[in-house]
Amino acid sequence: MKLSLAVLALTLSSALSFTIPSNAAHRRTVNSDTSMTTQLQATTGVARNKNFAKLAGGYLFPEIGRRRNAYLEQNPSANIISLGIGDTTQPIPSAILKGLVDGAAALGTQDGYSGYGAEQGKADLREKISEVLYNGLIDPSEVFVSDGAKCDIQRIQNMFGPDVTSAVQDPSYPVYVDTSVMMGQTQQLDEAKGQYDGIVYMECNEANGFYPDVAASPRADVVYICSPNNPTGVAATRAQLEETVKVCKERGSILVFDAAYAPFIRSSDVPKSIFEIEGAKDCAIEVNSFSKYAGFTGVRLGWTVVPEGLKFSDGTPVRQDFNRVMTTSFNGASNIVQAGGLACLSPAGMKEIETLIDYYLENAGILRKTFIDLGYNVYGGTDAPYIFVSLNGKSSWDTFSEILEKAEVVTIPGAGFGPGGEGFLRLSAFAPREGVIEACERLKKAMA
Ligand SMILES: Cc1ncc(COP(=O)(O)O)c(C=O)c1O
Repeated sequence: MKLSLAVLALTLSSALSFTIPSNAAHRRTVNSDTSMTTQLQATTGVARNKNFAKLAGGYLFPEIGRRRNAYLEQNPSANIISLGIGDTTQPIPSAILKGLVDGAAALGTQDGYSGYGAEQGKADLREKISEVLYNGLIDPSEVFVSDGAKCDIQRIQNMFGPDVTSAVQDPSYPVYVDTSVMMGQTQQLDEAKGQYDGIVYMECNEANGFYPDVAASPRADVVYICSPNNPTGVAATRAQLEETVKVCKERGSILVFDAAYAPFIRSSDVPKSIFEIEGAKDCAIEVNSFSKYAGFTGVRLGWTVVPEGLKFSDGTPVRQDFNRVMTTSFNGASNIVQAGGLACLSPAGMKEIETLIDYYLENAGILRKTFIDLGYNVYGGTDAPYIFVSLNGKSSWDTFSEILEKAEVVTIPGAGFGPGGEGFLRLSAFAPREGVIEACERLKKAMA
C-alpha cells in the first residue's frame, strides 16, 4: 500500500493537485508544491478502524470547550463562569492530602520504596474499600483498583468484545455509547434519530422520573445504569434497582452499574451501591471512583467490583477475564495515589469527604432554587451534583448558545448526552461558591 502510494505520487507529481485515496469515505488532496516527503507522509498504508469512523462528531466536552474558546476569541474581555463540565474545583482536604504527600515521601526511603504493584491494587486499599464503602457486602478479592471509572468502562468493553448488544439510558454519560461503538458492537449512526443502530436506548424522561422501564426495553447483553445519574441528577430508588436486577437476572444480562456519584446520596433508603440489592452479585459489575469523593479528578483513582460468582454463558467467571484485562493492559494504580485512597477511607478522610460533598450539594441547592424561582421544572441536585432543567420545548444547543452570549455562563446542552436529553440543560454544582452565586445572578437576568 505504502509503495503503491509512492508510485501514485510520483506519477502524478506534475499535476497541479491530486487526490490520494486513503479509504472510500475519506480522500485527502495534496498540493504538488509540497515536498515529496510531505506528500508521502500524508497517509500511511494502515486502514482506519472502521468503528472509529462511525463515531459521531467529537466527544461532547471538547466540543463545549471549542465553542467556549470561539466565544472568547470574539469577546476577549468576557468573564466566563463554567457550570459545564463536571470537574471538581475545591482543593484536596488536609488529611487526604497528607496521605498523598506521605505516599510520595515514602518512595524516597529504602523501607518505603515500592515499584510495580499488584495490577489489582494494594491489598490494604482493596480491604478498606470492601469494609468502609461496602460494609463487607463484597469481598476484597472482588475489588480491582484502577486509575478511574472512565478507563474501567473501556476495559470492561475490551472484555465483552464486539459481539454483545448494549443498552443505555437515554440520555446518558456518553462513554457507554462511544466505547460500544469503538468496540464494534454497533452499526452506523442513524443521523435522523441521533442513535446508533445496534444499541438499545432506554428512554428516560419526566414521565418516568428519568428511570427507564428496563422490562419494556428489548433485551441487551449488557445494561448500563448510572445512579445518581449523569446528566439528569436523579438517583434510582431501591424499588427501581430491585426491578432492574430482577429483569437482568431473568434475561441473563450483565448490569454495569456506574456509582461514581454515590457519595452525593443524602436521601434515606436510596442505595449507594447495586450490591445493596439482593441478587445483584449474580448479574452486576459496579464501577466507581474517588474523583468526585475527594476531588481526585486529576489525581486519578477508581475501582471496579466484579463479584466472584458472576459468570459468562459458558461458565467462565467474569472476574477471571477482567483480571486478565487488568493484568495485560494495566500495571496498577500509582502507589502514591493509592496511599491517598487509603487516607480517604480513614475516619478523618471520610469526614472531609462529607464536608466537601456538602459544599457542592449547597451549590446544587442554589442552582435549583434559581431555576425553580424562574419558573422552570428542575430535576436532580439533591442526591447528585447535577441539575437538569426542562427548557419547555426549546432546543438545548440554542439555549446553551443564548446563555453563553447573554450571561457568559457555560452550561451543557442535554442533547449532548443523547437525543433523550434534547429540551434540557445540565448544570454542574462543582464551581466555586462565588462563581455559582454570580452565575445565578446573571442567569436570573438572562432567563427572566
Ligand atoms: C457517570 C460517570 N462515570 C464515570 C466518570 C469518570 O470517572 P473517573 O474520573 O473516575 O474516570 C464520570 C465523570 O464525569 C461520570 O460522570
